[in-house]
Amino acid sequence: MTDARPPAGGAATVGNVTEVAADGQPVTAAASRRGNAVPEPQVTTMFDSIAPVYDRMNTLMTAGLDGRWRRSAVRAARLSRGGSALDVACGTGKLTVALAGAVGPEGRVLGVDLSPAMLDQARLAFGELVGVEFRVGNALALPVADQSFDAATIAFGLRNLSSFEDGFREMARVVRSGGRVVCLELSVPRPRLAARVYEGTFRLMAPVVGTLFRRRTAYRYLPHSLDGFPAAEEIAATMRRVGLRDVSFRRLALGAVALHVGTVA
Ligand SMILES: C[S@@+](CC[C@H](N)C(=O)[O-])C[C@H]1O[C@@H](n2cnc3c(N)ncnc32)[C@H](O)[C@@H]1O
Repeated sequence: MTDARPPAGGAATVGNVTEVAADGQPVTAAASRRGNAVPEPQVTTMFDSIAPVYDRMNTLMTAGLDGRWRRSAVRAARLSRGGSALDVACGTGKLTVALAGAVGPEGRVLGVDLSPAMLDQARLAFGELVGVEFRVGNALALPVADQSFDAATIAFGLRNLSSFEDGFREMARVVRSGGRVVCLELSVPRPRLAARVYEGTFRLMAPVVGTLFRRRTAYRYLPHSLDGFPAAEEIAATMRRVGLRDVSFRRLALGAVALHVGTVA
């Protein structure tokens, strides 16, 4: 899918930022309240370009806390041995493999991502694991049947989608009744001062870390992908709108990250 869909529902765009994509083309890196305005091919190119260094940069930028957050996401999915999970926008497969640990070798876990290079990294690290598969696919048109998994997760992927609501709708579609949809994503802390410090640090750090790993252009995209990103309460409301029930969230890392969970009706 190559279309750059306008934000669903015509929501106002917050904070347009002209940016340069990995292919050198100028793009408007504005995230509306309901979706990311950067076209999918450019998002894919950007993640392809950072794939070899993504894990190391992530560890550096999160001070190594990302592993703990992903473990919280796995617990929230409430999987059993022999169960099944779909990891949407799985990237290099860190959460996918943690989910595989929860369902065991008799279970089944599929990681789906738009970026072939991110999936190459995932296969290199985890391709041999029993019950784990990685496939190229779009979060907005998942290549799997209705109600075919016990849980669907997305970690740090939602803010890249052109429609957050359509992303949740797809995840809800592929999970059986009573199963869970889990979203781990960056958020903006509530107290204004903390939010300012956090945003400033993130905006400053991403390009610095990007320079260290010689991926500066691509890493300028990441802080902008948070522009206008909905607050945790709004994400919860979006999940309810697609029919998920018992939606709740919890803030991690002083509110810099939010973990949302909903149950399929
Ligand atoms: C920040 S990475 C997160 C990767 C991984 N989930 C993790 O926890 O590290 C975001 C991922 O979303 C993927 N992505 C972006 N838009 C997508 C879409 N429409 N469908 C599937 N994957 C997408 C990117 O290719 C990238 O691998």
